[in-house]
Amino acid sequence: MTARILDGKAIAARIRAGLAARTATLSFRPGLRVVRVGEDPASGVYVRNKDKAAKEVGFDSATVHLPESTTEADLLATIAALNADPAVDGILVQLPLPAHIRTEAAIAAVDPAKDVDGFHPLNAGRLAAGQPGLVPCTPRGVMHILAESGATLRGARAVVLGRSQIVGRPMAQLLLGADCTVTIAHSRTRDLPAECRRAEILVAAVGRPEMVRGDWIAPGAVVVDVGINRLPDGKLVGDVAFAEASAVAGAITPVPGGVGPMTIACLLENTLDAALARRGAA
Ligand code: GUN
Repeated sequence: MTARILDGKAIAARIRAGLAARTATLSFRPGLRVVRVGEDPASGVYVRNKDKAAKEVGFDSATVHLPESTTEADLLATIAALNADPAVDGILVQLPLPAHIRTEAAIAAVDPAKDVDGFHPLNAGRLAAGQPGLVPCTPRGVMHILAESGATLRGARAVVLGRSQIVGRPMAQLLLGADCTVTIAHSRTRDLPAECRRAEILVAAVGRPEMVRGDWIAPGAVVVDVGINRLPDGKLVGDVAFAEASAVAGAITPVPGGVGPMTIACLLENTLDAALARRGAA
């Protein structure tokens, strides 16, 4: 079997076109502010891409770039000002932050109604409780990919590999909300290959290049690879050994061009959702 390729780039482009069309009908422009602290080079690329994508769909977007020397109190004051600014619908604090700033303090300072990353404990709690709220972008993007894959989620055995706050845990909650039978597997799981082989839907989010081998995958499974790892030779690979896996799986996301493009598309969706909800329109 050769797996069908799930083209995240194309799905993301459709979502962005839909958001641009919707935004053009609004009497206001959704406002996004991305806060970057310090000079982490990868963060610079991510932040530019987010800002550019937001402007392309017609949002009022700007980056707030603070120096590496910013204190935690300064950052919290900046976030408080954005919380109070009626033109701002979405606030994203780009991670990682410099080591002298507590990530949890920054995340908790964002108004949950403007938390377009979905990282605030109130939004994480709402998701766990099955209540509506802002959902982390990458897991939201994976759900779009699964919807496009045509896979039946109700009753399906889903295995999420990885238990991070940003991907693994919220991913498992979304799959549970879609009536999957969910297993969260991680670095301490006994016999990871056997757990993965039980999956009809496998979401890999561990950050270990090509860890998931072809013989970890059940024939016909839908495999979604969240990993983006750079090898010493510069090549980008996922958490799944793509060539081996695509000989067994029914459908699979590539890296790059799978989950990656969905994350920004879903940040834009979250920003529009937050903007409408703040105005009582959703
Ligand atoms: N750094 C890497 N990924 C992310 C993300 O999704 N959100 C934020 N805020 N920072 C990140």
